[in-house]
Amino acid sequence: MKTLLTEEQLREGIRRMAGEIQTHYQGKPLTLIGVLTGSIVLLADLVRLLDVALRVDMIQARCDHAKGVCLGPLVIDEDLLSYGVRGRHVLLVDDIFHTGHTLWDLVPQIDDLGPASVRTAVLFQKEGQCQVAMKPDFVGFTIPNAFVVGYGLDYRDRYRNLPCLAALEPGEMGEEPKA
Ligand code: IMP
Ligand code: MG
Repeated sequence: MKTLLTEEQLREGIRRMAGEIQTHYQGKPLTLIGVLTGSIVLLADLVRLLDVALRVDMIQARCDHAKGVCLGPLVIDEDLLSYGVRGRHVLLVDDIFHTGHTLWDLVPQIDDLGPASVRTAVLFQKEGQCQVAMKPDFVGFTIPNAFVVGYGLDYRDRYRNLPCLAALEPGEMGEEPKA
């Protein structure tokens, strides 16, 4: 495993991103919606850095199909949203923008709930991998195209608790997780 960004570098990038978000939403009713589960560490940082009135909510994106493979678009479990977002400015927060399909699927579904606006914030964007006609509005770091873990991101639900961002080597993937 190779460290790509240290805890200190992450802190600085998140502080800068929070500053941009704060400037953009000053005086507006803001709702941060985190996409479970990868966004939880970034979200916890953002809510403490933003000095604006805000609400926090979470959504779980899931595949709408019966068995294993994701065939159609991701759908959100709307029941998870505790407050409505009608008339509010929504910032959808995710850990990483890789191909972009996740946020591409989710943004219109949030839009259908009648918010004043929907924008997106991600901690990482992989360079040159975007396959959709959108880009995230707020980005912490652009990173090379590697499989990364830590700071909320997982490989088979492991490594979310690493305080830095690390790239897994090919030999570290594919094996069954140790208990
Ligand atoms: P996208 O839909 O291709 O943009 O991928 C976004 C989702 O895939 C993220 O929310 C992550 O859950 C997951 N993902 C993509 N790349 C990585 C990675 O390098 N490490 C961990 N999770 C990833
Ligand atoms: Mg995710």
